[in-house]
Amino acid sequence: MSESGGRLPDGLRLRRAHPQDLDDVMWLEHASFPTDAWSASQMSGELYSPHGYYVVVETTDDGAPTVVGYAGLSSLAGNPVADVQTIAVSAEHRGRGIGRALFTELLDEARRRAVEEVFLEVRADNPVAQAMYTAFGFEHIATRPRYYQPDGVDAWVMRATLAPTRQGPGPIGQETLDA
Ligand SMILES: CC(C)(COP(=O)(O)OP(=O)(O)OC[C@H]1O[C@@H](n2cnc3c(N)ncnc32)[C@H](O)[C@@H]1OP(=O)(O)O)[C@@H](O)C(=O)NCCC(=O)NCCS
Repeated sequence: MSESGGRLPDGLRLRRAHPQDLDDVMWLEHASFPTDAWSASQMSGELYSPHGYYVVVETTDDGAPTVVGYAGLSSLAGNPVADVQTIAVSAEHRGRGIGRALFTELLDEARRRAVEEVFLEVRADNPVAQAMYTAFGFEHIATRPRYYQPDGVDAWVMRATLAPTRQGPGPIGQETLDA
């Protein structure tokens, strides 16, 4: 991973997602996962879930903010295991560190929750996401054959073990956090 860690480029900010972000998130969801996007009701359930932690990156440099990325983590209270539920960045904003900033925030939240192991699933034909997860210390530990339908693509199960908690900043709120 590069030195810039979770920093965002100028003109963007990261904040906690809220249910009113559903339409923007669903637009990106369909653009990012054309064959296996979640439904709006699935995504709405995620944004409302008490076990979830969803964040978005939005623009700050023009009139109305535009959501250009989102990511979510889920873990049950007191459970030392968490799952990365999803992450996506709009195609025109990829390769600028936004995915890294979103993923850093999810792992920071996992540490705040005293999570020890984080799991995720990624398509076997998605080397870009795999490279990002590997850079964060995730390892491919299992394969679920033909998990992604209708494409019939395998899922890689990846896992990372988190270092013991350092007392860092608290979770970000619904309001914005300039990174
Ligand atoms: C995966 C995704 C979220 C990455 O977001 P991004 O903003 O482009 O990523 P960043 O610019 O922050 O780069 C983060 C890391 O990803 C990897 N990466 C990014 N672009 C890459 C590319 N073209 N080739 C290889 N690795 C790449 C690198 O490890 C990079 O770290 P580095 O810059 O320190 O080398 C984005 O590509 C995306 O939305 N893809 C479509 C949706 C998707 O596949 N989501 C994952 C589902 S499991």
